[in-house]
Amino acid sequence: MPVLINPSILGADLLHLSDELRALKEGGADYIHFDVMDGRFVPEISFGELLLREVRAFSDIPTDVHLMVTESERHLDSFIRAGASRITVHVEAAEDLSGILDTLEQAGVLSGISVNPETPVVSVFPYLDRVDSILVMTVHPGFGGQHFMEESLPRIRTLREEIVRKGSRTRIAVDGGINTETALLARKAGADTFVSGTFVFRNGPETVIRKLRELLEDPQVE
Ligand code: DX5
Ligand code: ZN
Repeated sequence: MPVLINPSILGADLLHLSDELRALKEGGADYIHFDVMDGRFVPEISFGELLLREVRAFSDIPTDVHLMVTESERHLDSFIRAGASRITVHVEAAEDLSGILDTLEQAGVLSGISVNPETPVVSVFPYLDRVDSILVMTVHPGFGGQHFMEESLPRIRTLREEIVRKGSRTRIAVDGGINTETALLARKAGADTFVSGTFVFRNGPETVIRKLRELLEDPQVE
């Protein structure tokens, strides 16, 4: 399964977003990771459907919407309409995960379930046969620029073991504090999808995405 590199535009220069999106294209980003924060599930408010629409109109890179909001069910339709390619909801913020997966499946949108650092990964095991990816938070959600939590590594391993045991095609994504070093640790533990904001945008997406991909696709890592 090829590695995916999904830069988070929370780390971008929002006043020059069109230049940043061009740089992501140039670097070969697989998805644009789009962090939606509501000031309730996490302390801050980021951006929503309006900006997603603009991003979709400008760039043909698929979008990976990460909903850090309470009552995720209420927001699905508007993000589907705004052109999300994948929508990830938090296991801690959804009452009816099965219903959410049904809605996404019917809309032809890829699905994701995210788990916070303090939530046991077994909470997502029942959904591994039908969810496209599990987003393991490697920081406490809510802010860019935090340090990768090494305690995440055994969690990623446990999840990978279960995915292998079930013969499932579910991806494991990591989000928070991802740079060359931490991406490699996560890759060795079993992650295949890498969200990175600060590191990618501080170092020039045109070159850094390619470098990350070369490093992570190295077969010795498998
Ligand atoms: C954190 C967000 C992340 C964030 C990652 O709550 O979900 O996607 O943008 O940013 P960095 O790579 O700076 O940790
Ligand atoms: Zn995110």
